[in-house]
Amino acid sequence: MITAATISRIFHAANIEEVVGEYVALKKRGGNLLGLCPFHNERTPSFTVTPNKGIYKCFGCGKAGTAVGFLMEHEQMNYPEALKWLAAKYGIEVEEDGELDREQLQADAKERESLLIALDWSAMHFKNILLNEAEGQNIGLSYFEERGFRADTIEKFGLGYCLDSWDAFHQAAFKAGFKPDYLEKGGLVKKRDDGSYFDFFKGRVMFPIHNLSGKVIGFGGRVMQKDAKTAKYMNSPESEVYHKSDTLYGIFQARKAISQLENCYLVEGYTDVITLHQAGIQNVVASSGTSLTEGQIKLLKRFTENVTVLYDGDFAGIKASLRGIDLLLTQGLNVKVVQFPDGEDPDSYCRKLGGDDFGKFLAETTEDFIRFKTGLLLKDTNNDPIKKAEAMRSVAESVALIPDNLKREVYLRECALLFGFGEEVFGKEVTAIRRRNRIDKDGDKRHEPTGRIEATGIPLSIETPGITDEFQERDLIGILLKLGNLPFEETTVMKWVIEDLQASGIVFEVAVYQRIFDEFAKQAEGSETFDDMHFINHPDIEISTRAVNLISEKYTLSPHWEERYEVTIKTTEQALPHDILSAINRLKIRKVNRLMDEVGKSLEGLVDEEEVENKQLIRKHYEFLRKELSSNSGTAIVR
Ligand code: CTP
Ligand code: MN
Repeated sequence: MITAATISRIFHAANIEEVVGEYVALKKRGGNLLGLCPFHNERTPSFTVTPNKGIYKCFGCGKAGTAVGFLMEHEQMNYPEALKWLAAKYGIEVEEDGELDREQLQADAKERESLLIALDWSAMHFKNILLNEAEGQNIGLSYFEERGFRADTIEKFGLGYCLDSWDAFHQAAFKAGFKPDYLEKGGLVKKRDDGSYFDFFKGRVMFPIHNLSGKVIGFGGRVMQKDAKTAKYMNSPESEVYHKSDTLYGIFQARKAISQLENCYLVEGYTDVITLHQAGIQNVVASSGTSLTEGQIKLLKRFTENVTVLYDGDFAGIKASLRGIDLLLTQGLNVKVVQFPDGEDPDSYCRKLGGDDFGKFLAETTEDFIRFKTGLLLKDTNNDPIKKAEAMRSVAESVALIPDNLKREVYLRECALLFGFGEEVFGKEVTAIRRRNRIDKDGDKRHEPTGRIEATGIPLSIETPGITDEFQERDLIGILLKLGNLPFEETTVMKWVIEDLQASGIVFEVAVYQRIFDEFAKQAEGSETFDDMHFINHPDIEISTRAVNLISEKYTLSPHWEERYEVTIKTTEQALPHDILSAINRLKIRKVNRLMDEVGKSLEGLVDEEEVENKQLIRKHYEFLRKELSSNSGTAIVR
């Protein structure tokens, strides 16, 4: 188990801005940073990072946490994994004590992890063969060199070679201790009917596919023979870690440049990405031959709103990809296109022109998509009025997808002009399409869950409302965390609340709230105030996560909160005591109700008269207490 000292060191070193910034493009907004939430789909950013507290919070879906929590949530790491990732990033030595962490062992055994390890090992293996074995050098490396790939490029993309043998790869993998199971799931070997295995990528150069954090999740393999009867490229199958429709080839290598340049070039193939990178154009990813998916677009949108689609030259190809581009528009992206001369793809054309001239070519020929589509279809109509109407409708379909009203209006005008139709005609068409689309969409929506629970922002704490005292306990801990340091009744809110609760012997039902309370009690022994970073950076991840959730509510844009706790505190001094007392009372009422239930139950079937009388007396006492509490807090209705 990682020692508490190490955990604390990691928590303090972790820079939330840097960690989240690896996955989300963030912009300064006052003292905070703002970006598009990676946990839910949104058009306007509501994902906030507060560097001086080291926390993030999404005001759209309510997800909140520290750097560790972010990694756990976003990268699906477990706690120790997230800590170790951060330790590696910040050069902290991880001390572990001898105790076996069962959870960690279990997690390590998990499928996903084993699969990633097998894939990682395989990538290393293929690379090693490419660079160091005769066949790899003679066939694979010389092929890459012929294509003009430099050594640093090969290294950067982790390219490799799989020997032209049915079993060399898996024999080596078995020897290295990998089970056939994971190799098969990773698509590296296939099982024959007789139960034996063969190497799936036999005789191919290998392009590892990385996820956002640079882990190998699959491969593409290109055949070497020109006249091969098999597919030019073969790709890993879908697996626990590789979801083709959510993956963009090159995103790991490109994401920094995409955020910095606020634009992404979208190409089709592995080699397009690599050649452009080598030429200094690093903000480029590939859809890997498939038509674009929503998942891929969402991934892209986390880094930029601007996409430039690079197309292979022929008309058929372009027409086929118009749909994919429509999807980009639907997601609110600004789309531009570059058309290549017939028979050229970005890779071949870049090599033909050389990096500098290719860059110029891009700069000069990049065109707005709607304008491009209009021109393309208009050219095809030969002034035939029917064809022209069809073309207009098709362009109107695209314009109708643009979610932003202003942008749509601008396009509308421009297209009408290009077509030589009146603005009104075109506008009507767009409106009609939008109405129809909306009806379609609303039809769908009826079947979707409302997502209400997530939107409340407290998914952690409403597991069993009504059954536990969770709500009331949460409220009170929230008050401690948010208002604990404010002056109250000649001491502080923290000191006062703690003493009051301790005096009445209240025990929290939700374990983590009790742990937080105990921490508070410890702090209150020596001081009247506390440091909220103590909770945010607490080695107990549950404490840390809950604390972040509760504390970050203070930063919500909700005018409600401001009204209730910040503004009113200064103006009317009544508000604060009332809120605190009523929170305490609500909790106590719950506890008393609990006790009454217990007494009630113990009365059932009781015969001994003295005992019955005794219990009834206790119940009376509780009833009295409850009345007292209710009248104080003004919450007459007790659930
Ligand atoms: N592709 C694939 N399976 C195929 C053909 C293509 O998965 N049988 C995918 C690959 O990701 C490939 C992309 O589609 O990179 C584009 O295909 P293509 O244009 O045919 O290949 P290029 O990338 O141009 O590859 P090369 O230059 O090596 O021929
Ligand atoms: Mn090509």
